[in-house]
Amino acid sequence: MKVEFYGHVRQYRNIQAEIDAHMREVLESGQYVMGPVLSRFEKQLAGYHGMKHAIGVGNGTDALWLAFMALGIGPGDECITTTNTFFATAEAIWIAGATAVFVDSDARTNCIDPSRIEAAITPKTRALVPVHLYGQCADMKAIRRIADKHGLFVIEDNAQALGARGDGFRIGELSDAVCTSFIIQKNLGTFGDGGAIITNNEKVDREVRRLRNHGSVKRSCHSFGFNSRLDDLHAGVLSAKLKHLDEWNDRRRELAARYTAGLANAKSVTLPYEMPGYRHIFHLYVIETSRPEHRDPLLAFLNENGIDAKCHYPIAIHQQEGYPWGKQARIVGSLPNSERNAACCVSLPMYPELTEQEVDYTVEKVLAWEKRAG
Ligand SMILES: Cc1ncc(COP(=O)(O)O)c(C=O)c1O
Repeated sequence: MKVEFYGHVRQYRNIQAEIDAHMREVLESGQYVMGPVLSRFEKQLAGYHGMKHAIGVGNGTDALWLAFMALGIGPGDECITTTNTFFATAEAIWIAGATAVFVDSDARTNCIDPSRIEAAITPKTRALVPVHLYGQCADMKAIRRIADKHGLFVIEDNAQALGARGDGFRIGELSDAVCTSFIIQKNLGTFGDGGAIITNNEKVDREVRRLRNHGSVKRSCHSFGFNSRLDDLHAGVLSAKLKHLDEWNDRRRELAARYTAGLANAKSVTLPYEMPGYRHIFHLYVIETSRPEHRDPLLAFLNENGIDAKCHYPIAIHQQEGYPWGKQARIVGSLPNSERNAACCVSLPMYPELTEQEVDYTVEKVLAWEKRAG
């Protein structure tokens, strides 16, 4: 059996008529950039979050640095985040000209450990940047408390958890801006690059709208800015898919539960931990080998058996070659959890179109590897 890592082609086939109709609407309208379909999608996305504004931009990385810039974060300022995330979280801090300050992640959720944050705060700190890793929210209540105590912004990197919830809080409710990515494989993904900022903050809304469009909100009138807009074709695709997101996330949760039940007795791997009361939407289903030296053999065994398992992310940002490339960066304390996560993680295939047979086959192969490895 072959088990693919991505399900976007299956997803396209399942709702092809809806997607094609939305794309045709854009093509026939003749308005492909900053057109009505983008405006409509922005309203739908803001509504989905129960928030006032959503601004479509070129990709999730731009969403982050545009949010930082809109809040006036730049050279001399510090933003606190983690190193076991996709590279773009830190990259966006550096693009904005700020200093990336890294603290360790929580051993069980792999999201930022709030108890590590206060030791990293200095007079230069401006923002906390939690990443809702793998589809589960960071502990936003604790993060907000720290931010309020020290007068800091909170910008959520929500590239991986659109549709997730915390225990008694929604994404966006406890922050200044939420940044998301619509790249192909995300829970809400388009056929290419895309991103958005969702916010109740009027200044962020106003500034990002200006910055994303060459510093212009009125034809021919410009101030300094950039070109980073979500194309209407992508907005059309995303608009068709948004209607299905909750049902797709529910299916991911069912498949995750099937993996968890199948692997419950495995001794050599740790399974994903869901915080009580949280809705984890399993962008990725990540297990960790108990021993770092077991990770690559497990991955190779799965790959040899036709299962396209991967790693997210096998090299933590501070362990990348050449780090920090002349950019401003600071590590506070040690990062044992982030380093363990990088060394031991294996992502099993996870998407709503995955079949139960594919999950069961993957479980069978993980258990077969465990038996062999002793
Ligand atoms: C946690 C995280 N942050 C930021 C990004 C950047 O998004 P993009 O690839 O759309 O620039 C991604 C996704 O790729 C991500 O997973």
